[in-house]
Amino acid sequence: MSDRIDHLLNETRRFAPPEALAGASATSAALYERAREDRLGFWAEQARELQWATPFTEVLDWEPPHARWFHDGTLNVAVNCLDRHVEAGHGDRVALRWEGEPGDRRTLTYADMTAEVKRLANVLTSLGVRAGDRVAIYLPMLPEAVAAMLACARIGAVHTAVFGGFSPSNLRGRIDDAGATLVITTDGAWRKGKVFPLKPTVDEALREPGHGVTNVLVVRRGENEIEWTPGRDVWYHDAMAAADAEHEAEAFPAEHPLFILYTSGTTGKPKGILHTSAGYLTQTAFTHRHVFDLKPESDVYWCTADIGWVTGHSYIVYGPMANGTTQVMHEGTFDTPTPERPWQIIERYGVTVFYTAPTAIRTFMKLGRQHTQSSDLSSLRVLGTVGEPINPEAWMWYREVIGGGTTPVMDTWWQTETGAIMISGLASVTTLKPGSAQVPIPGIDIDVVDEQGEPVGDGDGGLLVVTSPWPSMLRTIWGDDDRYRETYWQKFGDRYFAGDGARKDDDGEIWLLGRVDDVMNVSGHRLSTAEIESSLVAHESTAEAAVVGASDETTGQAVVAFVILKQRFADELTVEESEAVLRKHVAAEIGAIARPRQVFIVPDLPKTRSGKIMRRLLRDLAEGRDLGDTTTLADQTVVDAIRSQLR
Ligand code: PRX
Repeated sequence: MSDRIDHLLNETRRFAPPEALAGASATSAALYERAREDRLGFWAEQARELQWATPFTEVLDWEPPHARWFHDGTLNVAVNCLDRHVEAGHGDRVALRWEGEPGDRRTLTYADMTAEVKRLANVLTSLGVRAGDRVAIYLPMLPEAVAAMLACARIGAVHTAVFGGFSPSNLRGRIDDAGATLVITTDGAWRKGKVFPLKPTVDEALREPGHGVTNVLVVRRGENEIEWTPGRDVWYHDAMAAADAEHEAEAFPAEHPLFILYTSGTTGKPKGILHTSAGYLTQTAFTHRHVFDLKPESDVYWCTADIGWVTGHSYIVYGPMANGTTQVMHEGTFDTPTPERPWQIIERYGVTVFYTAPTAIRTFMKLGRQHTQSSDLSSLRVLGTVGEPINPEAWMWYREVIGGGTTPVMDTWWQTETGAIMISGLASVTTLKPGSAQVPIPGIDIDVVDEQGEPVGDGDGGLLVVTSPWPSMLRTIWGDDDRYRETYWQKFGDRYFAGDGARKDDDGEIWLLGRVDDVMNVSGHRLSTAEIESSLVAHESTAEAAVVGASDETTGQAVVAFVILKQRFADELTVEESEAVLRKHVAAEIGAIARPRQVFIVPDLPKTRSGKIMRRLLRDLAEGRDLGDTTTLADQTVVDAIRSQLR
């Protein structure tokens, strides 16, 4: 890691913002000044950009580790994302240009989306959903997914979106933990040229009793055959046709819960990250506007994240829609029917701001620039990336090949927990360095500290902390405030521990080095080693398992498992059979994203004398590196035995 960073820190290329963006730079530059002078006053000004039913009088109430922002104000999040744009005369502005994978298209204006969400709010109410109730959203990239989230927000219900690739047991775990009473799903969606069924996963998840779900609302999309449970299942289109078109939105307190989003931690149990209303909306809207220099009147924005992850929440639904943005939404995968698809979409809609993940960029690079050349990409003026460190080669390729050598590439660091972008340049101001996430955004205080919590100097590395509360911070872990305190606050008191390693360069700018805990980052998705280990151990053939994230050229990290089989199975199955069975098992138990790239069947695992698995050694083995110091190993022969198994 340190070799890599030393190499990166020698990066000398610098890219100033292009002339065309210079107009916005004075305003954006002044934001740093203003936030430095009066941080809370600055955030209060940003919050006042929203439409409040009752204005707040107090900005922040901070009793570490619990923050309340703007707490005596009230507003309605959905009204801020929809109705107020219509009231301001922008009802005809396109909100979503949606393109289905087979090529079908839909255009929804802000007036259309407002009407859809009002009706859907009535549907939810008629199904018994009240403010504070939890609704699970298991939907792919359909406009109805956006409508579902905003309809929950409109009635004060708390949504918990579950990524469409997750398995029945994962979906059930989240439904139970959140105590959801309604699930919104679809029959199926298009993916890689086929309909991928979703409703059967919901049926399977709900098969065993003991959950609190009373209804399943089903959007028709795939037209695939599905089972139907009368009395429980409701077609979305039937319910919408029967619902009243008018809906009076109620204002909720600023700290009213908005959503729970589960993310992997260092134990087998995912954490339900709780976000609340006004602070979250303030920071997502602010960052979306200033990081990307977004102009709602003229920009066409496309964020390629899935709605089931936090980027979909913050930078497809809440931030962009609070800003009245016109955006593109795409169902399916980038390579269907051909790898030209994303570039054709950019040309077709004249996309100006494009936000994607380093993994996608590296995949585009591997496919080659020829796929980009038949499309006109000259509309693009700002590019963004998120989810994992971006290597300078990928950054340069993105700028040169996609951005025509002139567009700024904004590398944005943040997390499910932070809710919104925390470290990034601002497109119109920042002179960019390929590979660095740059500096905290205005109003955010970040530091890099050593294990004892002492700030490191410029040029040194350590652990990333956020030193002051921020508006879009998580408020707790749903149902487990102790875990919230332990995970994020125990280490450094009233400073938030992000779990990432970072280094400050000689200019004090920040370079992210990846996770310092047992959380992997595969294609920008967080996976827990413990969760995959417990899934492997649950399989009848496994005696013991250890999982590590090994570096991977395309996906950043890849899941690599080391498994000791129970003797009976070791005798019966070939190594290849065991590997295939276990890879399939993890995909079925957790979801395809967690499927190990490799499963090594090994005779033993390297452990310290106190019995702790030495993951560093396993990572080195998986990456084919020299093992360095192995003197803490209890049994030195284990490594040789494992090495002889690696092919
Ligand atoms: O390790 C960091 C990495 O992704 C983690 C957060 O993952 P998640 O909550 O799933 O949210 C992803 C989308 C916001 C972080 O702890 N990460 C995210 N963005 C970057 C990054 N690492 C380096 N550079 C980034 N720009």
